[in-house]
Amino acid sequence: MALTSTDTLDARLIRADFPLLSDGGDRPLVYLDSAATSQKPRVVLEAMTAYYETANANVHRGAYRLAEEATEAMEQARAKVRRFIGAGRDRELIFTRNATEAVNLVAHSYGRNFLQAGDVVLLSLLEHHANIVPWHQLAAEEGIELRWIPLTADGELDLTDLDRLLEGVKLVGVSAQSNVLGTIPPVADIVGAAHRVGALVVVDACQYVPHHATDVRRWDADFVAFSAHKMCGPTGIGALWARQELLEAMPPFLGGGTMILDVTTEGFLPAELPNKFEAGTPAIAETVGFGAAVDYLEGVGMENVAAHERSLTAYALAALRDRYGERITIYGPPSAERRGGMASFSFGDAHPHDVSQVLDEAGVCVRAGHHCAKPLVRALEVPTGAVTRASWYLYNDEADIDALVDALAGVEDLFG
Ligand code: ALA
Repeated sequence: MALTSTDTLDARLIRADFPLLSDGGDRPLVYLDSAATSQKPRVVLEAMTAYYETANANVHRGAYRLAEEATEAMEQARAKVRRFIGAGRDRELIFTRNATEAVNLVAHSYGRNFLQAGDVVLLSLLEHHANIVPWHQLAAEEGIELRWIPLTADGELDLTDLDRLLEGVKLVGVSAQSNVLGTIPPVADIVGAAHRVGALVVVDACQYVPHHATDVRRWDADFVAFSAHKMCGPTGIGALWARQELLEAMPPFLGGGTMILDVTTEGFLPAELPNKFEAGTPAIAETVGFGAAVDYLEGVGMENVAAHERSLTAYALAALRDRYGERITIYGPPSAERRGGMASFSFGDAHPHDVSQVLDEAGVCVRAGHHCAKPLVRALEVPTGAVTRASWYLYNDEADIDALVDALAGVEDLFG
């Protein structure tokens, strides 16, 4: 299948920017696990090295030039990340360790203080454990009730009964793109319905922000969590965007340095936003890397990234179905238009761990298992309780998909 005319991205040129994908080693590497973590372009690695070599000092503390430069580097990164998701104010962008910590921040600080016994938290069945377990923990402690938005047979959210499901709901948690099925729910519609009953919405945008132009204002959501490492940035740094008035009403999550205005033997006053939620020395070099990743993706153009992935998704779905027919079951929306750049599948009776091992021998990296989304994988009713997931990004091309399709023949040879 030819690339569609909207795909203007040359993955071969992109790969040259990524040391791990372009070093020409003797082992061919077909990296199809970007939903777990993306590879990093040289500019991101260089930005972090340059920070350590030229500007390293602690931030928000020192009154000397180097410390001011370090603070400036971190705050520039905050502004870049904030603009990248269409948000208006730097103080609404909180750096966290990752998206998981961002959701935990909401559950601890908002949930423990603004939700009470009997309140309902409505979660979609697409959610990753990061947007489930913190709410289970809160349910156990505070007596809130969890309710679930079910799935259609095609792995979309079944929103036919949304108004009934929203009765008594105070908070909704929804993934903007499933990390298993690639499903892209209508976040703005869900937010609109939730707001009509006075509920807030926390969006897990971990799998969305790296792959699409994102505008949190269009969603009109209240909390949006995402991570750098899935979008060409380093591990150990993520972000929570939230409305200023919510962040101001919420108590701090962690206590320590940076997050205070004053401390006495009697108590403390929290700092202004965003410092109020950034206790302790932050991952400064990683924020710089996060900013460089945003620069890199903006240079490529998020519309180009999304169009390229859509084209590859159409190619992959067709190639897998054409070659293996009924021997492969691909989960999730059947059309590339309605899903992100991934395909989770079962291959005959082979266990996904075996599939992944055989693929690895051909240099093809995929993830196998429950993908930290056990309620979703259970709903798929797969006998093994696990699926194989191939996921692609801006540096992949049709040759990578062909390698996956060819390598699956090795699974057939071994497991019939
Ligand atoms: N959440 C990541 C994944 O889906 C780690 O693989």
